[in-house]
Amino acid sequence: MKIIKTKSELGKSLELYRARGISIGFVPTMGSLHLGHISLVDRSRNENGVTVVSIFVNPTQFNDKKDLANYPRTFDEDLDKLSSVGCDFVFAPSVEEMYPEEDTRLFDFGTLGTVMEGACRPGHFNGVAQIVSKLFDAVAPDKVYFGEKDFQQLAIVKRMTDEMNYKVQIVECPSIRETDGLAMSSRNVLLTPVQRKNASVIARTLFECQKKKEEMTLHDLKNWVIQQINETPEFKTEYFDIVDRTTLQSTDLYVPGTLQGCIAVRVGNIRLIDNVDLS
Ligand code: PAJ
Repeated sequence: MKIIKTKSELGKSLELYRARGISIGFVPTMGSLHLGHISLVDRSRNENGVTVVSIFVNPTQFNDKKDLANYPRTFDEDLDKLSSVGCDFVFAPSVEEMYPEEDTRLFDFGTLGTVMEGACRPGHFNGVAQIVSKLFDAVAPDKVYFGEKDFQQLAIVKRMTDEMNYKVQIVECPSIRETDGLAMSSRNVLLTPVQRKNASVIARTLFECQKKKEEMTLHDLKNWVIQQINETPEFKTEYFDIVDRTTLQSTDLYVPGTLQGCIAVRVGNIRLIDNVDLS
């Protein structure tokens, strides 16, 4: 496994593969890797001749400076994990390498970007689009792997890819969960043992919601979910919404085959997100 710090060295290394017609799979991450990330790497390894993983904590997508400062960083462990699953290249640039000057680009994702995470974290998706487009330029992958865990991010990246005409296939990968159902996340390590134990309420409630959707109106179901979560000490639902999977717009009408329940919960200073298929 080769660790690369600059775009130019990455470009040169990958050119050799591209020239031989070998497909390049890419997994963008912010490090602090867990089995959710590794599932994306495994999938890329199965579907491509060479796999690149980027590790870069992107400052422009953090609307909260404290969240950026507290974001877990475990570079050496990340490298061990990646080398043991057969990753070929790790791209780990500095902030100066990715942002030699301020990125002033403003992206407009219309109503995809104004709801849920877009409403709660102003500027977040603009920062995601900035870094993802820079990484696409640096890697020029054939296929890129994103998790459904970040459901809205996936929709935004797909829109950006279409609008900017990137010739890359976006591969959607299912959420990987802990044994108690909690969606794996780099932020889970920030929870205290009690918060971590209680955090199973999020997935449990979402899965119960799948069953209850036949019995209740969507309006009542939304209120029920929020109430279940908020009954847990220290847990405060920022939003739970049932949205159309394509437009991400909120709906109170049950249309089979199109719905996703998306949630963000605040536990002290930590934000956890998750989602469930309600089709
Ligand atoms: P990060 O949170 O490190 O996530 C990297 C990728 O792993 C994303 O596509 C995310 O959806 C996926 N992922 C995270 N948890 C997962 C889980 N439990 N199961 C499956 N996949 C999971 O998302 C980002 O970084 C950044 O915004 C990034 C796209 C790298 C841009 O900076």
